[in-house]
Amino acid sequence: MKPGANHEPTTVTDPSAAWRELLKQQPASYRHVCNSRADFRRARRLGLVWRRVLRLAPVPKNGGLFELGCGGGHHLAKLAIQGFQVHGLDISAEVVERTREYLSSVSQFAPIRASVEVGNFLDYDTHSRAEHFDLVYHVGVVEHFLDAGQRALIWNKMRELARPGGWIVSIVPCGMHLLRQRARTEGLLGYNIPEIDYSCDLHTREFEAAGLSKVRCVSHNYFGFLPAAHAPWSSAPIRQPTLLAANAVLPWLPISEHWKELIATTLIAVGQNA
Ligand SMILES: C[S@@+](CC[C@H](N)C(=O)[O-])C[C@H]1O[C@@H](n2cnc3c(N)ncnc32)[C@H](O)[C@@H]1O
Repeated sequence: MKPGANHEPTTVTDPSAAWRELLKQQPASYRHVCNSRADFRRARRLGLVWRRVLRLAPVPKNGGLFELGCGGGHHLAKLAIQGFQVHGLDISAEVVERTREYLSSVSQFAPIRASVEVGNFLDYDTHSRAEHFDLVYHVGVVEHFLDAGQRALIWNKMRELARPGGWIVSIVPCGMHLLRQRARTEGLLGYNIPEIDYSCDLHTREFEAAGLSKVRCVSHNYFGFLPAAHAPWSSAPIRQPTLLAANAVLPWLPISEHWKELIATTLIAVGQNA
């Protein structure tokens, strides 16, 4: 399949069931721990991706955030420690239980405002929380919905949850980088649930079609795919300085995202609920 192609299936399937099964069978997946001060310091670190997201989509200091497909609560905890009030939804009851345990262990070290629930976002009743959140996001979830209609439904529901002026944020794997096809054929993605190859162009079009304004899509995490590639030229002594230099400089260079996508591991799309 050509990179960037929209992998439209002939029948519409909901990948959520595959996730539910996978996570039931893998008790260690998306299980995070916070048992020591060192764990807490790691959990608290916002990281480059969130610093970039919050520059692109600024929200009030103690604003409300909603995460679709929160997994084990890695992002929820990080953002709750920063002072945001967070709420997560995941289709896997097992994973939601892991999130509860993780959030409870984090709360031993700092007061946080966090909640989580089990549910399928495709059926989620957005009305009870309509226009409630300053930022509604997902990390690595929506690319698994191969059907464009289902993705449109998801963007629409996310928009309904955001207050007027609130942000929708999507963090997806970059489907355009140079090793993407190899990652796909050699199974380097970490799981076997199919996903579409997102480009900034496709993502921007989907956000605009969802009626979002101030839409931006940027590439992120340059050369982050190298560790999985095991190429001789990507050995650690070469890789570390390359990664550091590329990620410090490239975001600021006035090169089109189309070229940056070839070496980026992640795309970040933001749009505002006007
Ligand atoms: C690749 S994992 C990402 C987890 C988390 N966002 C992270 O980055 O650590 C995808 C998550 O989305 C959840 N998920 C998939 N379909 C869903 C749906 N329809 N509604 C809610 N959660 C869903 C899965 O159960 C899984 O935990």
